[in-house]
This record gives sequence, structure tokens and C-alpha cells, in this order.
Amino acid sequence: MDIFAKCYEPSLAGELKEKGVYPYFHALQSRQDVEVMMEGKRRIMLGSNNYLGLTTDPEVVEAGIRALEQYGTGCSGSRFLNGTLQMHLELEEELGRFLRKPGIVTFGTGFQSNVGIISALVGRHDYVICDRENHASIYAGCQLSYGKMLRYRHSDMAELEKCLQKVPETAGALIVTDGVFSMGGDIARLPEICALAKKYGARVMVDDAHGLGVLGQGGRGTASYFGLEDQVDIYMGTFSKSLASLGGYMAASEEVADFVRHASRPFIFSASIPPANCATALAALRHLEQHPELPERLRELSLYARKGMTDRGLKIRESALTAPTPIIPIYTYETYHTLEVAREIYDRGVYVNPTLPPATPEGEALLRRQLEELLGDTGTAENVRIDAVEQGSWLLVTLRAECLEEIGREVPLTKE
Ligand SMILES: Cc1ncc(COP(=O)(O)O)c(C=O)c1O
Repeated sequence: MDIFAKCYEPSLAGELKEKGVYPYFHALQSRQDVEVMMEGKRRIMLGSNNYLGLTTDPEVVEAGIRALEQYGTGCSGSRFLNGTLQMHLELEEELGRFLRKPGIVTFGTGFQSNVGIISALVGRHDYVICDRENHASIYAGCQLSYGKMLRYRHSDMAELEKCLQKVPETAGALIVTDGVFSMGGDIARLPEICALAKKYGARVMVDDAHGLGVLGQGGRGTASYFGLEDQVDIYMGTFSKSLASLGGYMAASEEVADFVRHASRPFIFSASIPPANCATALAALRHLEQHPELPERLRELSLYARKGMTDRGLKIRESALTAPTPIIPIYTYETYHTLEVAREIYDRGVYVNPTLPPATPEGEALLRRQLEELLGDTGTAENVRIDAVEQGSWLLVTLRAECLEEIGREVPLTKE
């Protein structure tokens, strides 16, 4: 049998293209910003992870240019061998100070970080325990590890406890959870997770891809939000969201970091973060440190938007109703309907991310809106107004920030 046979079979992607609702790979002709040029038209970007708007910050951009000029385009090797720049060490040191964890390991991407951390730490006789809604890269890490994976229903602490009870006393256990869930925008129940970990002698790792720069003191993330920094053993994070670059990291004790540095195949056998990305991540981190008001304003804006939507009857996941995170999912449930709505919104000049199974449970497709701090323009939530009339009817998005003035759209939301 030809291994390529599957490539020639009719596919969902082909079907969506035929129906004119294929939502992927829209090309940008501008910077990643609150307003972008996409496929030749100005559009409002409500689907970006550029939470603090730093991809266009002049100092961050300048840092990237300087690094490119000074160090060239790439490191041509792994951190382990020829690919360590002094700047990588500076980035790790400053990040460690910011996060208050001394052991930092940086990876090429956030995805690679999860794969590299989990596969290194979870050995043949160990267990890794995951929330079902964890990010795909966490699952990839579990698959690459030699250990056993157990999963619990999303944020279901009773199920988590049952998983922990299955772990033999002689085995190690690592509980891994998103801090802010990337689809639902809700926050992990870290106090309960940490209490259970303590009870059963397990370790806790939090994927803070969407927590860094958003939650906690000065944007230090989900553990800081709960005051649980000393009970979360490992933070994983990415430079590709709030820090406006590319790359990822692990933050832990020095001993755990040093073990991962010498055991992680995705770390050892892959090239290091290129100079420009390292410099922009470092500049963005410094900017965040100097501007603790940015995450604060983002949270304020997020709560304002949530309230505006729920006041008007739009369905947001219950556990995410009061979460001050910029990921706001609007349930549209049925896959084709979600795509039709996304297409219509797109045609009217607003980009949102349609999120479909298997990224969501079957029948729970959604439109994932992600807010950026800059959406508030002057930084105040009053500049953004989101009106949505009855669920089942129409969604009216009005963004009153100056640069977004022309938006005032009516879009059918749920299937009638
Ligand atoms: C929760 C979570 N973890 C990890 C990643 C991977 O990060 P990166 O895009 O930097 O590889 C993402 C990216 O979408 C994410 O949402």
C-alpha cells in the first residue's frame, strides 16, 4: 500500500475550501498589530497572542536589529555546543530573577519546551498526569517520554485525585496543566492541584504560555496570581506571546534545570534561539518589568469585554466568566456554522480564530477572541465597547478605539 494514499483521499480541508469557509493561512502584509493588513484589506486583529502589543514596540524592534547586526542571522548550533551566546545566558538570568526561579533552560519554541521538559523528566517508571484540555505540545511531550500518561476531565479535581491514587508508591508523578487554558481562557485550579500534589507526593508543572505577562504580580504568571510560587515546581512558558518573539523556557530549581540541560533531546539536538529573537525576548522582558501596568490594563480590558458580552447573553464557559484573561471564547457549537460565522466576520474586516474539534470537544466549536492591551488605545477599557444582543441572534462588535473607529459590525452568532 502506498503510504501517500491518505494524501489523495477527500479531506475536510478540501471540503471547506470548496464551500468557501476554509479559515487557515490568511497571509498578512503588515506587522502583527491590533490593526493589520491581511489579504489586501485592513482588518481588526482579534486573534493574536501579541497580548502586550510588544511586537511593534520601537525599543524591542531596535534590540532585534542591533542583535542581527552584531551576531548575524543564526547560531548554527545547539546551546549544548557552539550555539550559546552570552545573550542567551543574560536572558536566562534575567528571566530567572523575574520569575524567582533560579534554574532557566531556554528552547527554540514553546512547543519544543514542553516536549523537551516532559520527555526528559518523565522516565520509564514515572507517571505524567494531564488535564484533558492541555495544549497539544504537552501531549507531544508525554508521547516522547517513556512514562505512562493519565488524563483527568478538564479541571475535575476528583478525577485528578483518582489518577494520583493509581500511581504506585515507587513511581514518580508529574501533574502538568495549562495555567490559562488556551481554548477556554479559564484558569487552572492551582490551589487544589498543589494541595493534591502535596498529599500524594507529586510534582507540579504549569504551562504559562498564556499566563506570562497577563496574570500575577507584574505579569509573573498563574502561580503568582494564586501566591503559589513555592508550590509550583516548574513553569514552562513561551517568548512568542506576551514577549513578542520566538522561543520558550523552563523555570525550576537549579538542580532540575541542570538535569534537563543534560537529558533533554529537544534541547541538546536542536539549534539555539537566533540572536534577533533572543534580543527581542530580552527587550520585551525588560519592558514588562518596567511596565507592570501593562498586564493590569490587559486584565481590566479582558474583564470589561467579558462583562459586555455576558451582560448581553453570550455564552462564555462558566469557569472563564470572571477570569481576567484575554482569551474569550464565544461558543458557536457546530463546526460548519462556526466557520460560516468566522468567514462573515472576516469579510467584514475582523479576524478571530475559529476553533474546532479536536482542539475543542465535539459540538463545542468556538470563536476565540484574544484581546491585546493596545486595543484600549490609550489603555483604558472605556475605549473598547463590545455590544452583543441576545444569544441566538446577532453579535455587534463595536471597538471605539480611534484606530478601530470604522468597526461596527453585525454578525449572526448562533444558529437559529
Ligand atoms: C498553552 C500553550 N503551550 C505551548 C504553546 C506553544 O508555544 P509556541 O507557539 O511558542 O511554540 C502554545 C502555543 O500556542 C500554547 O498555547
